[in-house]
Amino acid sequence: MPETKMTEIPGLSKNARTVLEKRYLKRDSDGKVLETPVDMFQRVARAIADADRKFDKKADTKARADQFFRIMTSFEFLPNSPTLMNAGRELGQLSACFVLPVGDAMEDIFDAVKYTALIHKSGGGTGFSFSRLRPANDVVMSTKGISSGPISFMRVFDAATETIKQGGTRRGANMGILRVDHPDIMDFIMCKDDQKQLNNFNISVGLTEAFMEAVERDQEYNLINPRDGQPCGTLNARKVFSRIVKQAWKNGEPGIIFLDRLNKDNPTPKIGMIESTNPCGEQPLLPYESCNLGSINLGKMVKDGEVNWSRLKEVVQLAVHFLDNVIEVNNYPLPQIDEMTRSNRKIGLGVMGWADMLILLGIPYNSVEAIRLGEKVMHFINEEGRIYSRQLAASRGTFPNFAGSVYDRPGEGPIRNATVTTIAPTGTISIIANASSGVEPLFAVSFVRQVLDKNILVEVNPIFEEIAKEGGFYSDELMQRIAEHGTVQDIHEIPEEVRRAFVTAHDITPEVHIEMQAAFQKYTDNAVSKTVNFPNSATIEDVEKVYRLAYQLGCKGVTIYRDGSRDEQVLSTGKKE
Ligand code: CDP
Repeated sequence: MPETKMTEIPGLSKNARTVLEKRYLKRDSDGKVLETPVDMFQRVARAIADADRKFDKKADTKARADQFFRIMTSFEFLPNSPTLMNAGRELGQLSACFVLPVGDAMEDIFDAVKYTALIHKSGGGTGFSFSRLRPANDVVMSTKGISSGPISFMRVFDAATETIKQGGTRRGANMGILRVDHPDIMDFIMCKDDQKQLNNFNISVGLTEAFMEAVERDQEYNLINPRDGQPCGTLNARKVFSRIVKQAWKNGEPGIIFLDRLNKDNPTPKIGMIESTNPCGEQPLLPYESCNLGSINLGKMVKDGEVNWSRLKEVVQLAVHFLDNVIEVNNYPLPQIDEMTRSNRKIGLGVMGWADMLILLGIPYNSVEAIRLGEKVMHFINEEGRIYSRQLAASRGTFPNFAGSVYDRPGEGPIRNATVTTIAPTGTISIIANASSGVEPLFAVSFVRQVLDKNILVEVNPIFEEIAKEGGFYSDELMQRIAEHGTVQDIHEIPEEVRRAFVTAHDITPEVHIEMQAAFQKYTDNAVSKTVNFPNSATIEDVEKVYRLAYQLGCKGVTIYRDGSRDEQVLSTGKKE
């Protein structure tokens, strides 16, 4: 196999090496690193290629492993972190995303805490809807006492996560959702007002169409007690919406998700309703479902100043094959998750390096051309991904829940995966690939990044570095100045066309952030991870406008961050592990 000849990976950055050595590479019991990055990619490629034998006894898994090895070591494609960490190893848990149900009975709640611990230990993140829990101070028949309510139980999940953090492969993350018609909704909206609370949770309010209509018409809407499904009061929709917006303005949370919209795109409505997403919001899942993600590095899909469509198609096909194989060799933390995941076979292929691609093409991120190209690229990936998933169905069979799914229609053939595309944040894999993260604009041209708890990495955008060196205006002093200043827009020693191409998150209006999110959402089966950045001076009305725009443009949710509004940004772009 040609891969065995490789000892060094060309283009592996120093930062990437640091990240891999810290958490991804195999170690012995004394903590000594036992494998090189090349070994790691071989381990992953072989373990995932092995799945081909399940469908074809004579499959050439060596050739397949070689293909997988090449798309990973060229940084054209990377799977999500748990796959890199755990494939071909004893733990073998390969998914980043899980959703667990939380029932109203005490037993169900603590079962879910236990399942969460098992998932976090293996590097996965968990999402929950707490909407089934009866509100605080409601009756409890068995004890004749009163109930604690969803928020106090969220603290139990938060404490469990905090404890596991020390021993696990990476810091576990949670998403907590509460429906807007839950009686405790106002307390939920305020539950992270104190920045010391619930730090292992991202929270989002689950908005319904009925609620959004009531906001439009300035009406009251019903609260429903989940214990008996009966209305138990009303609230003014605009007041609730304003409170959500105000809190998000104040410190970035809660986010919002449009529940009915997620369910409109639920591919298997007969199997269950979507009530939550994974921690960063990009992957809606049914209770007990898991999903493995993977991202194509668009920065590598530019050739001679143009999009390299033919290579993009090849990489999409290999990536879908890879992710479908992951489902086969994955070691699931619970039998329920094994069953649910294999029955729907959801995969989440997305992108990173979108900002890099635009820079290489000379298209500013904040231009109509960029929005149009975003749609076109994602449309292409979605289409080619589905075509390949259908090809896989021809040889491997359709996903077991196909009958009764949205694909089960006259004229449509079988498909292997209930969903194909998702845009992940790519927080760590983009560091490994030395790419801009997800579909985000550059966070900065040069900046200080804090990773893996306390390690500080100084980074200069690699494309900028190259252009600056070629253009003769590179200096350490300038890179330092840019890092402190945050933008290159008013640094006149940098040529104007370079400045225009290197717009960063804060040079871009919130409206453009949302338009880009909507452009990618249009052709993404699942959802899009995106942070809408606001300047510190933004008003509450500015935030409200963007929330409404996101709804109008068909987004599935919104996460915003106003500069400087939190002491520390939890699990968002830029500063995460
Ligand atoms: O880049 P990487 O594969 O490490 O992950 P990502 O794309 O930033 O995040 C994808 C998903 O992984 C998140 O939405 C979470 O479900 C999960 N995650 C987690 O559980 N804990 C983290 N510390 C980071 C991500």
